[in-house]
Amino acid sequence: MRKAYDIGFSTSEQELVLDELPISGTMPDWVEGTLLRNGPGTFKAGDQNYRHWFDGLAMLHKFTFRGGKVAYANKFLECKAYSEAKELGKISYSEFATDPCYSLFDRVKEVFNPRFTDSSKVNIGKLHGKFVALGEPSLQVEFDPETLKSVGVFAYDTKVKQHVTTVHPHFDKDAIINLTTRFGRVSNYRFMQLEKDQPPQLIAKQRVKEPAYIHSFGMSPNYLILVEYPFVVNPLSILFHAKPFIENYKWKPDRGTRIFIFNRHTGELVKQTETDSFFAFHHINAFEQQGELIFDMVTYPDPGIIDAFYLDKIRSEEKKLPGGEIRRYRFDPAREGKAVCEILCEEGVELPCFHYDSLNMDGSYRYVYSIGVNRSEKNSFYDQIVKSDLQTDKSTIWREKNCFPGEPVFLPNPNGKTEDDGVNLSIVLDEANGNSFLLVLNSSDFSEIARATIPQPVLFGYHGNFYKTI
Ligand code: CO
Repeated sequence: MRKAYDIGFSTSEQELVLDELPISGTMPDWVEGTLLRNGPGTFKAGDQNYRHWFDGLAMLHKFTFRGGKVAYANKFLECKAYSEAKELGKISYSEFATDPCYSLFDRVKEVFNPRFTDSSKVNIGKLHGKFVALGEPSLQVEFDPETLKSVGVFAYDTKVKQHVTTVHPHFDKDAIINLTTRFGRVSNYRFMQLEKDQPPQLIAKQRVKEPAYIHSFGMSPNYLILVEYPFVVNPLSILFHAKPFIENYKWKPDRGTRIFIFNRHTGELVKQTETDSFFAFHHINAFEQQGELIFDMVTYPDPGIIDAFYLDKIRSEEKKLPGGEIRRYRFDPAREGKAVCEILCEEGVELPCFHYDSLNMDGSYRYVYSIGVNRSEKNSFYDQIVKSDLQTDKSTIWREKNCFPGEPVFLPNPNGKTEDDGVNLSIVLDEANGNSFLLVLNSSDFSEIARATIPQPVLFGYHGNFYKTI
């Protein structure tokens, strides 16, 4: 039997269009719409290998739910990094932790014109009606959700060059807000707001000498929350392209973690405070209660999780992935004083989701759905789905032998009465059968409702979203 790590971190290049996947169980009749997911479709270009889980060339996956049936299609994201890799049979663009092999001449050329990937592989966003494959470099790729073909490029700011963005924009009524970073002699964090048919607007800005690697940010009704872990870079080393992107960042725990709070309406920096050093990819939710600002995150003591995602480490089986801890930070933005931190859930998790549509910025939310690592197995990758109850620290777990699930997107039942009345949709790699299936779990008790079998493996991906209409 091939190990899951070899299947999920290799290549699965066949592009399929299937009208109907075989289903076991019965799909609930209210589950109608389209799940779009993003992630790598190959960790190879010609005979060259990418090195890290966050490298690889983007592939889009589409599951269409209609009348109890599930159609499936997948396609590599059409972009320059993909077409050159295919044409030349080698890695031609810099990814998160992999650079092309440069000749001395190329190296000099690249210094003046670094080619960061346009293979946006991390998330999917519906930005004012446009479907966009989201990646951390500034250039994003718009695609047609019917055909999965690329139709154009997208940038959060067309006037000022941004170098990196988060792949987790926030949505509030008609506004879309995202955090971008511009590197330079003076670097800036820049919060951009997009409103329909309006030019992008800079709503808050913070100068910074050494920008941090920041994957997401927090937003409450009145505040934007920028948590700056002490995992920072001299921006010139990125611009001059000394090493693969993430390897330019240095862990400087003595700096502590800085928290910047901006007024969302005026852009004013209302508070800057510090807390102990830690690292995180994901904010979960943020809200305000009796004058206090409260935000939840999946945290780690340090950025060792990034090292743990190098493919040679994942394949080693000896190393366990560090599990993220769900922490809650709170403080009064109008008063002096540091943030108080409390651990909400100790079961290690990552890729958190919740009932965003109804409970974003709402403190009554209670359940977080994510993936985790079963401590009693030898696996060195995510092998369980976890439902965390933030009120009781109780975890409900789904796992199956030799199965490796991805992000469990939550889909609420439109007629549901409770927060967890809905389903979780997760693509699961089945090591024993050498393929993947789409698992549909009952969100309230994590019992299996149905599974739709894909006739090939889906490589381990990152994020996606469900859309009632495309
Ligand atoms: Co993410």
